[in-house]
Amino acid sequence: MNSEKRVSIGTGASAEYEATVTSPVNIAVIKYWGKRNTDLILPTNSSLSCTLSQDDLHTKTTVRCSPKYKQDRLWLNGFEEPVVPTHGRGYRCLQELRQLRKVIEDENPTEPKLSEYKVHIVSENNFPTAAGLASSASGYAALVQALANMYNLTCDQTELSKIARLGSGSATRSVFGGFVEWKAGEDPLGSDSCAVCVAPETHWPSLRALVLVVSDAKKGTPSTSGMSATVSTSTLFEQRIKYVVPERLKDIKEAILNKDFKTFAEITMRDSNQFHAVCLDTYPPITYMNNISIGIIRLIHMFNSQVDPETNAPLGVRAAYTFDAGPNAVIYTEESNIKELVSIITHFFPPSQATSLKSYLPSAPSLFDIPAL
Ligand code: DP6
Repeated sequence: MNSEKRVSIGTGASAEYEATVTSPVNIAVIKYWGKRNTDLILPTNSSLSCTLSQDDLHTKTTVRCSPKYKQDRLWLNGFEEPVVPTHGRGYRCLQELRQLRKVIEDENPTEPKLSEYKVHIVSENNFPTAAGLASSASGYAALVQALANMYNLTCDQTELSKIARLGSGSATRSVFGGFVEWKAGEDPLGSDSCAVCVAPETHWPSLRALVLVVSDAKKGTPSTSGMSATVSTSTLFEQRIKYVVPERLKDIKEAILNKDFKTFAEITMRDSNQFHAVCLDTYPPITYMNNISIGIIRLIHMFNSQVDPETNAPLGVRAAYTFDAGPNAVIYTEESNIKELVSIITHFFPPSQATSLKSYLPSAPSLFDIPAL
């Protein structure tokens, strides 16, 4: 997260305060899907993700408060939202942070009363919103961090992750960089449902994420309603929560700490597949992947079954796919495989003329646009 300290504009009683934060998206390898408390956004299972480099997919949010502002206002990707709904998730995050600011003001009467000022929020994603690329994760993480900076709050990232959670479950994890676990917790009030850093981004420098944009259309079934339907109708889901996820979490954390790509990749692919299986087991079924997504799955398994042309020895598991609530793929691999993988992907899925291959940087996640069927 690129988080700037707040700046003040003007002095005295008319001063305005502003902060800007850039927050990257995170891509789950053990998926969060299901809430045990929909109001407090408490998940049915712990989840784990990698926060991508913020040079690529991110949300940039600027917040400003002023004694002159008459109401809270929000601009998303250049358009103003008609009203900031006071029952909405963003408003809830704002109110939580205002409360924390008020504590500071009550303790220090000389502090300006920012908790009483209205706030203007300008937020922009540099990638398709709501196309299953975790835009709510980076969006709420950026909002919460920017407000915390503007209010000069001293709470740590773990505390902020709980407030980001009230915006969107996956945002809990975007508050940290690197490999992040969102611990489901046990407290019915959610005091222990927060993010923890499993390993920093510097831990596994050869790991890469390629983002294959299959479609930038808004997703059909929003995550919130989709997971609620799964919890109430899928029988497979119960098995996943009870018997599968706890073991997988333990094993993938170990694989990350040991930089064991094969285990990391196998668990990542299996968990993505099981998440989409419980979506299909939801009644009526939810389908997020399309034929191109399935083609990408086949291609990666083909890539992983290649043998050395000279020795005939298997080259092993060198890439892993994962899909969130949309058809777009994220491929995890190691830097040494990038060149070969990119040439195979672009051979089978040539980038569309209109959108072309976007910024391929070996040191950062890359975006490819794949023409839809
Ligand atoms: C498939 O965080 O968007 O990306 O908490 O209802 O806002 P809400 O859901 P959201 O769900 C993300 C689901 C997922 C898996 C994941 O990121 O773990």
